[in-house]
Amino acid sequence: MAKEDDIRGNVPVNAENLAVRPVAPVHLAVIMDGNGRWAIARGRKRLAGHRAGVDALERVLEWCKDAGVKVLTVYAFSTENWKRPKDEVSGLMKLFSTFIRMKSRKLVHERIRFRVIGRIDDLPPELAADIAKLEKETASFERQLVLAVSYGGRAEIADAARRIAADAAAGKIRPDDVDEALVGSRLYAPDLPDPDLIIRTSGEQRISNFLLWECAYSEFYFTDALWPDFSREDFDAALASYATRDRRRGGHA
Ligand code: IPE
Ligand code: IPE
Ligand code: MG
Repeated sequence: MAKEDDIRGNVPVNAENLAVRPVAPVHLAVIMDGNGRWAIARGRKRLAGHRAGVDALERVLEWCKDAGVKVLTVYAFSTENWKRPKDEVSGLMKLFSTFIRMKSRKLVHERIRFRVIGRIDDLPPELAADIAKLEKETASFERQLVLAVSYGGRAEIADAARRIAADAAAGKIRPDDVDEALVGSRLYAPDLPDPDLIIRTSGEQRISNFLLWECAYSEFYFTDALWPDFSREDFDAALASYATRDRRRGGHA
């Protein structure tokens, strides 16, 4: 077994190591979808669904700790979500601010590093400032919660390309220097390992512009559960499914 595989937790599955410890993803990413439908089914406003979605996120963060997941990345707001009605967008921005203000002490106490990936410059300035403050306060912690806000996979790759082009124009790099490692190094959180498992809730089976570069060899798990209803059983089922996957990464079986 290669040492690098060992560190990343991608140990080949066989009866022996499954019996000792199910293989947990090091990096779990979640497309938290279905908040609106959850609220509408209850005759409530969509924002009530987003609020319930925050509670679901808190529960999942706890379960990640139990399961040994080191990085949890959650898709909270896409570059396309700016197209939604103004009151939903402003309600979501307020919800992100409240989440950060209410949870910052807990995150510090639990030693969880908080960071945001996405076009931070698009966010209300107070929210961007709160994010920067909490990112700084928690920068030294090992476990991580990564919030994808105003995030688009294409935007992330375009932003990386723009920075590389600027470096080339300034003579810092040559076109021949551009390779996968260089592009990867200009992404929003270049130090993170790629997501091992991506879960999407609410029955939709699409990527919706999430982690396009990083998902090259991710495993996928889809569940019909709406995000606010996502339960411990759903979480355990996703991780159990992941533990059976044969991650060949283009190699042979
Ligand atoms: C996901 O829930 C959260 C965001 C996109 C902000 P939705 O708001 O997309 O809920 P549905 O898919 O309409 O039910
Ligand atoms: C993806 O969900 C974005 C988030 C969960 C934040 P959407 O609800 O925006 O995606 P589509 O429109 O169903 O593809
Ligand atoms: Mg949706």
